[in-house]
Amino acid sequence: METKPPGYDEYLRMYMEMVSFAKEELKRRATSPVHVPREKIDREFAGHNWVLLVDPRIGFNSRIIRFWINGFPPGEAENKWQFMGHRHTVEAVIYVLKGYGYSIIDGVRYDWEPGDFLCVPVFAWHRHINLSNEDMVYVASTTGPLSMGIGVAIYEDERFPEYWVFAQKDTNEKKSLIPGAVEIPDAQRGIPEGIDPKEYAGSTAAKIYFDQLTFAEREEQARRGGKVLVKGKDLKFEKTPMGWVAPVVDPKLGFYVKVMSTCVAEIEPGKRSGAHRHLYEEVNHILAGEGYSIIEDKRYQWKKGDTLSIPVFSWHQHFSTGKEPARILVHTGRPAMENIGLMITQQGEVAD
Ligand SMILES: [Fe+2]
Ligand SMILES: [Fe+2]
Repeated sequence: METKPPGYDEYLRMYMEMVSFAKEELKRRATSPVHVPREKIDREFAGHNWVLLVDPRIGFNSRIIRFWINGFPPGEAENKWQFMGHRHTVEAVIYVLKGYGYSIIDGVRYDWEPGDFLCVPVFAWHRHINLSNEDMVYVASTTGPLSMGIGVAIYEDERFPEYWVFAQKDTNEKKSLIPGAVEIPDAQRGIPEGIDPKEYAGSTAAKIYFDQLTFAEREEQARRGGKVLVKGKDLKFEKTPMGWVAPVVDPKLGFYVKVMSTCVAEIEPGKRSGAHRHLYEEVNHILAGEGYSIIEDKRYQWKKGDTLSIPVFSWHQHFSTGKEPARILVHTGRPAMENIGLMITQQGEVAD
Protein backbone atom coordinates (compact mmCIF):
# COMPACT_ATOMS: atom_id res chain seq x y z
CA MET A 1 0.00 0.00 0.00
CA GLU A 2 1.31 3.43 -0.94
CA THR A 3 1.98 5.67 2.08
CA LYS A 4 1.80 9.47 1.97
CA PRO A 5 4.99 11.38 2.79
CA PRO A 6 4.88 13.46 6.00
CA GLY A 7 2.88 16.68 5.64
CA TYR A 8 1.22 15.49 2.41
CA ASP A 9 -2.32 16.50 3.38
CA GLU A 10 -1.18 19.95 4.51
CA TYR A 11 0.67 20.58 1.24
CA LEU A 12 -2.33 19.38 -0.74
CA ARG A 13 -4.61 21.69 1.24
CA MET A 14 -2.37 24.70 0.60
CA TYR A 15 -2.10 23.91 -3.10
CA MET A 16 -5.87 23.53 -3.47
CA GLU A 17 -6.30 26.86 -1.65
CA MET A 18 -4.44 28.51 -4.55
CA VAL A 19 -6.33 26.56 -7.21
CA SER A 20 -9.70 27.47 -5.71
CA PHE A 21 -8.86 31.11 -4.86
CA ALA A 22 -10.42 32.69 -7.95
CA LYS A 23 -13.76 30.93 -7.54
CA GLU A 24 -13.83 31.65 -3.80
CA GLU A 25 -13.02 35.29 -4.56
CA LEU A 26 -16.02 35.48 -6.90
CA LYS A 27 -18.22 34.42 -3.97
CA ARG A 28 -16.58 36.96 -1.64
CA ARG A 29 -17.13 39.68 -4.25
CA ALA A 30 -20.75 38.72 -4.74
CA THR A 31 -21.44 39.15 -1.01
CA SER A 32 -19.39 42.31 -0.34
CA PRO A 33 -21.11 45.72 -0.30
CA VAL A 34 -21.32 47.83 -3.47
CA HIS A 35 -23.57 50.82 -2.73
CA VAL A 36 -22.97 53.42 0.00
CA PRO A 37 -25.92 55.82 0.22
CA ARG A 38 -25.35 59.48 1.10
CA GLU A 39 -27.33 58.90 4.31
CA LYS A 40 -24.27 57.17 5.81
CA ILE A 41 -22.43 60.50 5.53
CA ASP A 42 -25.46 62.41 6.88
CA ARG A 43 -25.53 60.07 9.88
CA GLU A 44 -21.83 59.73 10.70
CA PHE A 45 -20.06 62.89 9.50
CA ALA A 46 -21.10 65.20 12.33
CA GLY A 47 -18.91 64.54 15.35
CA HIS A 48 -16.29 62.56 13.44
CA ASN A 49 -15.62 64.87 10.47
CA TRP A 50 -14.50 61.68 8.78
CA VAL A 51 -16.50 58.84 7.25
CA LEU A 52 -14.92 55.80 5.65
CA LEU A 53 -16.96 55.02 2.54
CA VAL A 54 -15.02 52.21 0.86
CA ASP A 55 -12.36 50.23 2.72
CA PRO A 56 -11.55 46.52 3.03
CA ARG A 57 -11.69 46.95 6.84
CA ILE A 58 -15.42 47.62 6.63
CA GLY A 59 -16.17 44.67 4.41
CA PHE A 60 -15.54 45.97 0.88
CA ASN A 61 -13.80 43.75 -1.63
CA SER A 62 -11.30 46.51 -2.42
CA ARG A 63 -7.60 45.68 -2.35
CA ILE A 64 -6.12 48.87 -3.76
CA ILE A 65 -8.38 51.84 -3.06
CA ARG A 66 -9.68 53.43 0.13
CA PHE A 67 -12.27 56.20 -0.25
CA TRP A 68 -13.57 58.55 2.40
CA ILE A 69 -14.98 61.98 3.14
CA ASN A 70 -13.09 64.29 5.45
CA GLY A 71 -13.52 67.73 6.94
CA PHE A 72 -11.46 70.13 8.98
CA PRO A 73 -12.23 73.47 10.56
CA PRO A 74 -11.07 76.90 9.39
CA GLY A 75 -7.66 78.25 10.38
CA GLU A 76 -4.15 76.95 10.14
CA ALA A 77 -3.81 76.09 13.82
CA GLU A 78 -6.86 73.87 13.89
CA ASN A 79 -5.12 71.10 12.06
CA LYS A 80 -2.18 71.34 14.49
CA TRP A 81 0.39 71.44 11.68
CA GLN A 82 3.54 73.34 12.59
CA PHE A 83 5.92 72.76 9.72
CA MET A 84 5.98 69.42 7.91
CA GLY A 85 2.39 68.19 7.88
CA HIS A 86 2.52 64.53 7.00
CA ARG A 87 3.47 62.11 4.27
CA HIS A 88 2.58 58.55 3.38
CA THR A 89 3.68 55.81 1.05
CA VAL A 90 0.31 55.90 -0.70
CA GLU A 91 -0.98 57.99 -3.57
CA ALA A 92 -3.89 60.29 -2.83
CA VAL A 93 -6.37 62.20 -4.98
CA ILE A 94 -8.50 64.80 -3.20
CA TYR A 95 -11.64 66.44 -4.57
CA VAL A 96 -12.68 69.63 -2.77
CA LEU A 97 -16.39 69.86 -1.98
CA LYS A 98 -16.47 72.87 0.40
CA GLY A 99 -14.15 75.62 1.61
CA TYR A 100 -11.11 77.26 0.08
CA GLY A 101 -7.46 77.44 1.03
CA TYR A 102 -4.16 75.98 -0.06
CA SER A 103 -1.91 72.98 0.33
CA ILE A 104 1.85 72.82 0.60
CA ILE A 105 3.03 69.75 -1.25
CA ASP A 106 6.78 69.10 -1.47
CA GLY A 107 7.40 72.75 -0.63
CA VAL A 108 5.10 74.20 -3.30
CA ARG A 109 1.84 76.06 -2.56
CA TYR A 110 -1.32 75.09 -4.47
CA ASP A 111 -4.51 77.15 -3.97
CA TRP A 112 -7.82 75.33 -4.23
CA GLU A 113 -11.55 75.91 -4.08
CA PRO A 114 -14.59 73.65 -4.48
CA GLY A 115 -14.43 71.56 -7.65
CA ASP A 116 -10.62 71.37 -7.69
CA PHE A 117 -8.51 68.21 -7.48
CA LEU A 118 -5.17 67.64 -5.75
CA CYS A 119 -2.94 64.70 -6.56
CA VAL A 120 -0.59 64.08 -3.62
CA PRO A 121 2.25 61.92 -4.90
CA VAL A 122 3.59 59.02 -2.93
CA PHE A 123 5.66 60.06 0.16
CA ALA A 124 5.44 63.81 -0.57
CA TRP A 125 5.23 65.97 2.57
CA HIS A 126 1.94 67.86 2.56
CA ARG A 127 -0.42 69.87 4.71
CA HIS A 128 -3.73 71.54 3.93
CA ILE A 129 -4.73 74.98 5.21
CA ASN A 130 -8.37 76.03 5.26
CA LEU A 131 -8.68 79.80 4.72
CA SER A 132 -12.47 79.89 4.55
CA ASN A 133 -14.76 80.47 7.51
CA GLU A 134 -16.51 77.13 7.17
CA ASP A 135 -15.20 73.56 7.37
CA MET A 136 -13.17 72.41 4.42
CA VAL A 137 -14.79 69.19 3.17
CA TYR A 138 -13.27 66.84 0.61
CA VAL A 139 -13.54 63.29 -0.64
CA ALA A 140 -10.25 61.47 -0.96
CA SER A 141 -9.12 58.28 -2.58
CA THR A 142 -5.82 56.67 -1.61
CA THR A 143 -3.95 53.48 -2.32
CA GLY A 144 -3.65 52.62 1.39
CA PRO A 145 -5.01 49.05 1.16
CA LEU A 146 -2.44 48.16 -1.52
CA SER A 147 0.46 49.62 0.50
CA MET A 148 -0.71 47.85 3.65
CA GLY A 149 -1.15 44.57 1.73
CA ILE A 150 2.45 44.64 0.49
CA GLY A 151 3.74 45.69 3.90
CA VAL A 152 5.07 49.15 3.02
CA ALA A 153 2.36 51.47 4.31
CA ILE A 154 4.25 54.22 6.15
CA TYR A 155 2.36 57.23 7.51
CA GLU A 156 4.62 59.88 9.02
CA ASP A 157 2.80 62.70 10.76
CA GLU A 158 4.56 65.58 12.50
CA ARG A 159 2.13 65.22 15.40
CA PHE A 160 3.20 61.63 16.06
CA PRO A 161 7.02 61.53 15.80
CA GLU A 162 7.14 58.34 17.84
CA TYR A 163 5.85 56.50 14.74
CA TRP A 164 8.32 57.96 12.26
CA VAL A 165 10.31 55.43 10.29
CA PHE A 166 12.43 57.61 8.01
CA ALA A 167 11.85 61.21 9.12
CA GLN A 168 14.63 61.76 11.63
CA LYS A 169 14.12 64.56 14.10
CA ASP A 170 17.16 66.44 12.85
CA THR A 171 16.37 66.38 9.13
CA ASN A 172 16.26 69.55 7.08
CA GLU A 173 12.47 69.18 6.93
CA LYS A 174 12.32 69.70 10.66
CA LYS A 175 14.21 73.01 10.40
CA SER A 176 12.16 74.30 7.49
CA LEU A 177 8.73 75.87 7.73
CA ILE A 178 7.93 74.39 4.35
CA PRO A 179 7.34 70.64 4.18
CA GLY A 180 9.52 69.01 1.59
CA ALA A 181 11.57 72.15 1.07
CA VAL A 182 14.83 70.29 1.01
CA GLU A 183 17.08 70.04 -2.01
CA ILE A 184 16.07 67.58 -4.68
CA PRO A 185 18.44 64.65 -4.26
CA ASP A 186 21.27 64.06 -6.63
CA ALA A 187 20.60 60.95 -8.68
CA GLN A 188 24.14 59.77 -7.97
CA ARG A 189 23.76 60.01 -4.20
CA GLY A 190 22.57 56.43 -3.93
CA ILE A 191 26.11 55.21 -4.69
CA PRO A 192 27.97 54.95 -1.36
CA GLU A 193 31.39 56.51 -0.70
CA GLY A 194 34.24 54.33 -1.78
CA ILE A 195 32.45 52.84 -4.79
CA ASP A 196 33.50 54.16 -8.18
CA PRO A 197 31.09 53.04 -10.94
CA LYS A 198 33.92 53.41 -13.50
CA GLU A 199 35.65 50.44 -11.94
CA TYR A 200 32.72 48.30 -13.08
CA ALA A 201 32.60 49.56 -16.67
CA GLY A 202 31.42 46.80 -18.99
CA SER A 203 29.65 44.85 -16.25
CA THR A 204 25.95 44.39 -17.07
CA ALA A 205 25.30 43.07 -13.58
CA ALA A 206 26.91 46.20 -12.05
CA LYS A 207 24.88 48.48 -14.36
CA ILE A 208 21.65 46.84 -13.20
CA TYR A 209 22.81 47.17 -9.59
CA PHE A 210 23.76 50.88 -9.91
CA ASP A 211 20.32 51.50 -11.42
CA GLN A 212 18.92 49.93 -8.28
CA LEU A 213 21.08 52.03 -5.94
CA THR A 214 20.01 55.31 -7.58
CA PHE A 215 16.38 54.43 -8.27
CA ALA A 216 14.90 56.31 -5.29
CA GLU A 217 16.65 59.59 -6.14
CA ARG A 218 15.58 59.44 -9.78
CA GLU A 219 11.99 58.69 -8.79
CA GLU A 220 11.97 61.59 -6.35
CA GLN A 221 13.14 63.92 -9.12
CA ALA A 222 10.36 62.58 -11.36
CA ARG A 223 7.84 62.94 -8.52
CA ARG A 224 8.66 66.59 -7.98
CA GLY A 225 8.29 67.21 -11.70
CA GLY A 226 4.77 65.73 -11.79
CA LYS A 227 1.51 67.67 -11.96
CA VAL A 228 -0.42 68.16 -8.72
CA LEU A 229 -3.40 70.51 -9.12
CA VAL A 230 -6.35 70.29 -11.51
CA LYS A 231 -8.81 73.19 -11.46
CA GLY A 232 -12.43 72.15 -11.81
CA LYS A 233 -13.01 74.79 -14.49
CA ASP A 234 -10.36 73.14 -16.67
CA LEU A 235 -12.18 69.79 -16.93
CA LYS A 236 -12.63 68.93 -20.58
CA PHE A 237 -15.22 66.28 -21.43
CA GLU A 238 -14.53 64.19 -24.51
CA LYS A 239 -16.44 61.39 -26.17
CA THR A 240 -15.44 57.77 -25.55
CA PRO A 241 -17.29 54.44 -26.06
CA MET A 242 -18.12 54.74 -22.33
CA GLY A 243 -19.64 58.21 -22.79
CA TRP A 244 -18.38 61.74 -22.03
CA VAL A 245 -15.25 61.58 -19.88
CA ALA A 246 -12.87 64.24 -18.53
CA PRO A 247 -9.53 62.67 -17.55
CA VAL A 248 -8.18 64.25 -14.32
CA VAL A 249 -5.22 62.32 -12.88
CA ASP A 250 -3.36 59.79 -14.99
CA PRO A 251 0.27 58.83 -15.54
CA LYS A 252 -0.41 59.54 -19.23
CA LEU A 253 -1.15 63.19 -18.35
CA GLY A 254 2.13 63.95 -16.54
CA PHE A 255 1.09 63.05 -12.99
CA TYR A 256 3.47 61.01 -10.87
CA VAL A 257 1.06 58.15 -10.19
CA LYS A 258 1.77 54.46 -10.59
CA VAL A 259 -1.32 52.96 -9.00
CA MET A 260 -4.39 55.16 -9.31
CA SER A 261 -6.14 57.15 -12.00
CA THR A 262 -9.05 59.58 -11.73
CA CYS A 263 -11.59 60.93 -14.18
CA VAL A 264 -15.05 62.51 -14.16
CA ALA A 265 -17.85 61.07 -16.29
CA GLU A 266 -20.91 63.03 -17.34
CA ILE A 267 -24.21 61.54 -18.57
CA GLU A 268 -26.99 63.73 -19.96
CA PRO A 269 -30.50 63.22 -18.54
CA GLY A 270 -32.17 60.21 -20.12
CA LYS A 271 -28.89 58.85 -21.51
CA ARG A 272 -26.75 55.88 -20.55
CA SER A 273 -23.00 55.26 -20.31
CA GLY A 274 -21.36 52.41 -22.12
CA ALA A 275 -21.06 49.02 -20.43
CA HIS A 276 -17.70 47.48 -19.71
CA ARG A 277 -15.72 45.39 -17.27
CA HIS A 278 -12.06 45.41 -16.37
CA LEU A 279 -9.45 43.72 -14.20
CA TYR A 280 -9.10 46.67 -11.85
CA GLU A 281 -11.27 47.98 -9.07
CA GLU A 282 -13.15 51.24 -9.35
CA VAL A 283 -14.86 53.61 -6.91
CA ASN A 284 -17.57 55.97 -8.16
CA HIS A 285 -18.84 58.96 -6.22
CA ILE A 286 -21.92 60.78 -7.51
CA LEU A 287 -21.17 64.51 -7.70
CA ALA A 288 -24.45 65.51 -9.34
CA GLY A 289 -27.69 64.12 -10.73
CA GLU A 290 -29.50 60.87 -10.10
CA GLY A 291 -29.97 57.55 -11.81
CA TYR A 292 -29.09 53.91 -11.46
CA SER A 293 -26.33 51.48 -12.36
CA ILE A 294 -26.45 47.87 -13.40
CA ILE A 295 -23.48 46.11 -11.81
CA GLU A 296 -23.34 42.47 -12.87
CA ASP A 297 -26.95 41.39 -12.46
CA LYS A 298 -28.02 43.92 -9.81
CA ARG A 299 -29.53 47.39 -10.07
CA TYR A 300 -28.41 50.18 -7.72
CA GLN A 301 -30.38 53.42 -7.53
CA TRP A 302 -28.19 56.47 -6.77
CA LYS A 303 -28.26 60.21 -6.17
CA LYS A 304 -25.78 62.99 -5.43
CA GLY A 305 -23.52 62.01 -2.50
CA ASP A 306 -23.81 58.23 -3.03
CA THR A 307 -20.79 56.00 -3.64
CA LEU A 308 -20.40 52.75 -5.59
CA SER A 309 -17.57 50.27 -5.16
CA ILE A 310 -17.37 48.35 -8.42
CA PRO A 311 -15.67 44.99 -7.96
CA VAL A 312 -12.94 43.75 -10.25
CA PHE A 313 -14.21 42.37 -13.59
CA SER A 314 -17.89 43.04 -12.97
CA TRP A 315 -19.91 44.48 -15.85
CA HIS A 316 -21.20 47.98 -15.10
CA GLN A 317 -23.31 50.57 -16.87
CA HIS A 318 -24.85 53.82 -15.61
CA PHE A 319 -28.20 55.42 -16.48
CA SER A 320 -28.93 59.11 -15.83
CA THR A 321 -32.58 59.67 -14.96
CA GLY A 322 -32.55 63.09 -13.23
CA LYS A 323 -33.22 66.58 -14.57
CA GLU A 324 -29.58 67.68 -14.55
CA PRO A 325 -26.62 65.80 -16.07
CA ALA A 326 -25.18 63.10 -13.81
CA ARG A 327 -21.56 63.65 -12.86
CA ILE A 328 -19.55 60.74 -11.51
CA LEU A 329 -16.12 61.03 -9.90
CA VAL A 330 -14.27 57.86 -10.89
CA HIS A 331 -11.14 56.52 -9.14
CA THR A 332 -9.55 53.35 -10.48
CA GLY A 333 -6.54 51.10 -9.86
CA ARG A 334 -5.89 50.78 -13.59
CA PRO A 335 -2.26 52.05 -13.64
CA ALA A 336 -1.29 49.51 -10.93
CA MET A 337 -2.74 46.68 -12.96
CA GLU A 338 -1.12 47.92 -16.17
CA ASN A 339 2.22 48.07 -14.36
CA ILE A 340 1.98 44.47 -13.19
CA GLY A 341 0.75 43.29 -16.59
CA LEU A 342 -2.68 42.22 -15.38
CA MET A 343 -5.07 44.50 -17.20
CA ILE A 344 -7.94 43.48 -19.45
CA THR A 345 -10.85 45.74 -20.43
CA GLN A 346 -13.84 44.46 -22.37
CA GLN A 347 -16.33 46.85 -23.96
CA GLY A 348 -20.00 45.89 -24.13
CA GLU A 349 -22.81 48.21 -25.20
CA VAL A 350 -21.59 51.65 -26.35
CA ALA A 351 -22.86 54.87 -24.68
CA ASP A 352 -25.77 56.62 -26.39
FE1 LIG B 1 -2.36 62.91 3.34
FE1 LIG C 1 -15.32 51.04 -15.26
